[in-house]
Amino acid sequence: MMDQSEVAQLKALMEWEATRTAPPEGFPRLPDMPAARYTSAEYFALEQTHVFRKSWLFAGHMDEIPEPGCYMRWHNAGDPIVIVHGMDGVVRAFYNTCRHRGAPVVTEDRGKASRLMCGYHNWTYKTDGSLVGVPERRDFPADFDMSCRGLLPVRCELFGKVIFVNFDADAMPLIDWLGPLAREWEEFAFDRIRLAARHSFDLNCNWKVAMEANMEVYHVPFIHPATVAPLVDSARNLNTMYPNGHARMLAPAPRTTNREHVRAIDSPAGWQQIDSVGELGRTCTQSYTLFPNWVSPLSNFFVPPLVFWPTSLTTTRLELVTMALDWGDAPAPDLWTVPDDRQPNGRQMSPIILEDTQFGEAIQHSMQSAAFRSVPLSYQEARIYAFHQSLDAMIGEGNIPSELRVEQVIGEAWVWPSEPRLAQMERDRAAAPHPG
Ligand code: FES
Ligand SMILES: [Fe+2]
Repeated sequence: MMDQSEVAQLKALMEWEATRTAPPEGFPRLPDMPAARYTSAEYFALEQTHVFRKSWLFAGHMDEIPEPGCYMRWHNAGDPIVIVHGMDGVVRAFYNTCRHRGAPVVTEDRGKASRLMCGYHNWTYKTDGSLVGVPERRDFPADFDMSCRGLLPVRCELFGKVIFVNFDADAMPLIDWLGPLAREWEEFAFDRIRLAARHSFDLNCNWKVAMEANMEVYHVPFIHPATVAPLVDSARNLNTMYPNGHARMLAPAPRTTNREHVRAIDSPAGWQQIDSVGELGRTCTQSYTLFPNWVSPLSNFFVPPLVFWPTSLTTTRLELVTMALDWGDAPAPDLWTVPDDRQPNGRQMSPIILEDTQFGEAIQHSMQSAAFRSVPLSYQEARIYAFHQSLDAMIGEGNIPSELRVEQVIGEAWVWPSEPRLAQMERDRAAAPHPG
């Protein structure tokens, strides 16, 4: 949780952001980013190998596997995985790949069983992954060691009720990966929220093109004039970068905002508020990037991550998730989608998401043309630049051809807990004429 002095400091910094006439003193000039970061198969392969195989990735919510024996398939990161709520209460993830001849051990998206049995030759595994049954055992060698033929594990850890996986056996624990976010997220009650909605949509653009639409407020007045702009004062936006590539944007509502309008969007009748959420979560738009592919505006009503899954160099699966406190008899809240009988999943993206995704396919086409040379980013878009720096840092600069790299110009001084803007704010205040 944030204490009162932190809240006061962040509020002061947001006010100060609106008074700047240039980027903050000492903030690095952001070099153009190479265009090919969005179009190169080589860079895409590097992202897959070094980022998606080594990061903690959102996999689901305990409501999807509520009881011992419940399991769910998951393949958003490519490899087929099964996430199992073990008979011993422990949640684990495994490759959904039988150790005999590779058939899937689980063939439904969700199910419940005290043992997992492969349908091909009925090899049987306990919910902790160990192999306990092999039909016609006599036909294998006498010393055939079943103990080393259990399902292969994938790291799986919880933050509250939210399930994350990591393909890297040596990855740091999830709580360390989250770092300061774990403390800042305490107030959003990840241990009490329920899964209300989870829908996927396929987009025709690189995953970064889709995600970056949600990583800056520069676009808000222009593509969201009627939806987001009345809620977010982009001039008073404050970005904070965290270790491991995470980031936060914090922006208050415009002074002119009609509170009824905010309430109509944020608090449908009957939904229970997350009572522990503090002042900033109640009054500002507070959106976090969880590196590499989760963006979520957290508030006193929702934990609603947008999760961006690369399905190829030029396609993305966008997952739109709403988690909230108990909604009683009211329909389950869904912040991001609306009913549409013509769609395969019966939903379509909400007006805000349609606004954010509208240019993706055309941008991807443009990016593949000769006209797209490089990307100049403003201070307001620094969260995007920092994200690219983090991608390269994780890939390892030596693994990236120089024409694809970004320069690491945003240094430690601009990463939490360092906050160089405070000193400039204090100087500006001292220089300002005394009010009254
Ligand atoms: S492939 Fe699973 S039992 Fe043969
Ligand atoms: Fe947007």
